[in-house]
Order: sequence, then structure tokens, then C-alpha cells
Amino acid sequence: MKTVKDYIRTIPNFPHEGIMFRDVTTLFGDGAGFSLAVDQMVEAAQGRDIDKVAGLEARGFILGGAIAHRLGCGFVPIRKAGKLPGSKISEAYLLEYGEAVVEIHEDAIEPGERVLLVDDLLATGGTAEAGIRLIERLGGQVVGCSFAVDLPELGGAARLRAMGMDVDMLCA
Ligand code: PRP
Ligand code: HPA
Repeated sequence: MKTVKDYIRTIPNFPHEGIMFRDVTTLFGDGAGFSLAVDQMVEAAQGRDIDKVAGLEARGFILGGAIAHRLGCGFVPIRKAGKLPGSKISEAYLLEYGEAVVEIHEDAIEPGERVLLVDDLLATGGTAEAGIRLIERLGGQVVGCSFAVDLPELGGAARLRAMGMDVDMLCA
């Protein structure tokens, strides 16, 4: 019986020399693998009484859309700067080199809504933390953060748990 990890390939030296890049396209591209990942993330979300799923661009959209469909709730995209057409709020976060910005439509979440944050991979946790801040600024409550892959040596799960978050991941 294959696990989610078995469907993910590692590509050395991408995008930089020395980085072992976890490539989830092989997970998404396999019907059994994609179903397994979505099933397990839906299972982890049970009992959280979720109103909306928020996905982080870009690979969080693929998992988050499927999870939202399964949970019967709406999907909210958290996008890189400059992509959302309506009124929005922004959060900057640190990358390995430099800074990036993510945005959310300011009417995407109602105060008090219970939100599941979804992405493919948790590394330093900077992207997820920026997403959490956006949701909380709109009055949403982040009731779980769900990732297919964790890179534990980069400390993202510890960082999010230190913020009081419930963090679920399928593999490391
Ligand atoms: C990757 C990944 C996460 C983020 C994790 O996305 O999909 O969103 O990095 O890193 P962190 O925990 O250190 O913040 P990336 O920024 O490469 O964007 P993409 O999905 O648009 O390629
Ligand atoms: N794979 C995909 N996205 C990433 C990785 C990785 O190994 N590290 C940081 N973001």
C-alpha cells in the first residue's frame, strides 16, 4: 500500500544548488495519489466545523479546492501580490532572500468564520504565517493548518504551533 510520500519525488539542486526540492506534481498527477492526499487532509479536518478553506498560491489552490469541495464549503484564494482584482489587504513575509507579499480580498471571510488554511508544503512557515495574519485581520478564526509535506528541519510546524495553531501534515 503506497503512502503520500511515495508519490512525491525529490529533485536535487532546484531552484538553487544544494536544495533538495520536493516536487508534488507527481502526487497531483496520479489519481490514486491525489485522492489519498485529499482524503487524508479531509480526515484530519473532521470535527473542526469549517466554514471556509483558504489556499495559498499556487499549489495550495489545487489541494484546497478539492478539500473545500469535499467539505462542502467555500474556497478563498490567498494570492501573491497584484493578482486579486477587488479591495484587498496585504501581508509581507520573509523569503530565503528578500521579501514577498500575499493578499486576500477583504470580503472573502466574514468575522467569526472558521477557516482551514491549506498548502502543499510547510518549510519555514513564513508564507503560512502571513496567510494566518490575513485571515485573522478579517476576523476569521484559523481552526487548522493543513499541509501535504513538512520540512521539519526548517521549523515551520514549531513556528505555527507557537502561534497556537493546530498543524496537520501528511508526511515529512
Ligand atoms: C512554496 C510552497 C509554500 C511555501 C513554503 O511556495 O508551496 O507555499 O513555498 O515555504 P515557507 O514555509 O518557507 O514560507 P512558493 O513560494 O515556492 O510559491 P509557488 O507555490 O507559487 O511556487
Ligand atoms: N518543494 C516545494 N516548495 C518548496 C520547497 C520544496 O522542497 N522548499 C520550499 N518551498
